[in-house]
Amino acid sequence: MNSPAEHWPFAVRPLTPKLGAEISGIDLARDLDPALFASLYQAFLRYQVLVFPPLDLPPASQVAFARRFGEVQVHVMNQYHADGFPELYRLSNLDEHGRPSGNHPDKGTLAWHTDGSWQRVTGQATIIYGEVMPASGGETHFCDMYGAYERLDASWKARIAGLRAVHSLDFSRNRRHGEDPLTEAQRLAKPPVDHPIVRTHPESRRKCLYLGDHAEYIFGMPYEAGRALIEELNALAVQPDLSYEHRWKTRELIVWDNRCVLHRATAYDAATQGRVIRRCTVLGEVPA
Ligand SMILES: [Fe+2]
Repeated sequence: MNSPAEHWPFAVRPLTPKLGAEISGIDLARDLDPALFASLYQAFLRYQVLVFPPLDLPPASQVAFARRFGEVQVHVMNQYHADGFPELYRLSNLDEHGRPSGNHPDKGTLAWHTDGSWQRVTGQATIIYGEVMPASGGETHFCDMYGAYERLDASWKARIAGLRAVHSLDFSRNRRHGEDPLTEAQRLAKPPVDHPIVRTHPESRRKCLYLGDHAEYIFGMPYEAGRALIEELNALAVQPDLSYEHRWKTRELIVWDNRCVLHRATAYDAATQGRVIRRCTVLGEVPA
């Protein structure tokens, strides 16, 4: 966790005191040798969010890079699969003529969340490439959930110790945001799952808050009381001094650790501006 920046075999520019670093001097379109990837993985653990300057990264190279982290998720919402790779998922507001359609492709991403918390084996890294970016808006914001847990006072920590939240894609995508086309078969394929509210990161061994927008209610608690607790904790968790707000340049790549970071996208004018990203999420582990 404390490797000094000067020991990295690439350039590292921290983006905030808490999380985020820009990494340069690596050609991600090439096959990275194991030692270089091991260092990059240590930087991923240390900084939680890595931003790579604009580069040409074909879909196959993005998938190959993602596979270095682990098994890449094939998302249940197969209407978003892209470029012949079921591991890739494209969110675009452009119509078939390449013009802004006015339709935001996934309004659920506007709420703070962590990818894949709605399944038993949750997301480890998410790897997003910005194909088209709007002139304003459409940012991605990140917040450090180690810090969010650490700053809770002792009574909060005692109150939530041992509690488990039930996460549901049907809740966050269909019932809460209302516009997303999760089919009945997709809904049945991904039933709600419960995870600890406070998880221990499997590699850093540090505790972090693990909630976000897919968390619906608290296991064993009356529904409305659990909803209120989740809303209160989600609001407490996100603080400006724990956050990094990224304004995208086209062709940047961003990698983050879903186990200890919440993220959201910000709104943009989907009727006049284009925004296209392709992403993949690497599967991690069952939270504990
Ligand atoms: Fe996400």
